[in-house]
Amino acid sequence: MKIAVIYTSKYGSTKRVAEKIADNCDNAFAFSTLSDIQNIESFDKIIIGIPIYAGSTTRDMRNFLKKNWDAIKPRLFGVFVLCWDEKNYIEFINKILPEKPDDKVILECFGGEIDPELLMEFERKVILELTGVSTKTSNIRNEQVVAFAKKIMGN
Ligand SMILES: Cc1cc2nc3c(=O)[nH]c(=O)nc-3n(C[C@H](O)[C@H](O)[C@H](O)COP(=O)(O)O)c2cc1C
Repeated sequence: MKIAVIYTSKYGSTKRVAEKIADNCDNAFAFSTLSDIQNIESFDKIIIGIPIYAGSTTRDMRNFLKKNWDAIKPRLFGVFVLCWDEKNYIEFINKILPEKPDDKVILECFGGEIDPELLMEFERKVILELTGVSTKTSNIRNEQVVAFAKKIMGN
């Protein structure tokens, strides 16, 4: 069985989570949507990793999903979200995916991470207003990430 964990990440936390999932699975590979993923059809299970910015995700992820949906859909095993507004994560997924995923697709939210030092001045102000975060803060639940990897491996 071959597994692809496909993510996009502006500030690095989704990348780290995608790599952790791949590290905890056999024969799994993490790909950024900006990398050249060859042959999606050669993977048995596909995991999509989505960070949320201003209620959506990056254009490259949206384009990637649209362009490759026919190949992704029958292989889609799970979608994970990184965001601050965790109660809305299912809504985010339904808005971003070209189609509502089947009930068997596992949907998870692992929390999020914000490092104001990586942001532009105006973004820092907006983030402070919305979240109250002024110094690097992470609430990513690593145990949940590892448990998700176990689900992918089927145990
Ligand atoms: C500029 C910016 C905008 C964000 N907008 C939202 C948002 O609208 N809703 C939300 O729940 N989280 C939002 N977040 C939180 C991110 O989803 C969270 O920080 C995530 O871990 C970022 O992933 P990354 O490190 O892979 O870029 C935002 C974060 C930043 C920096």
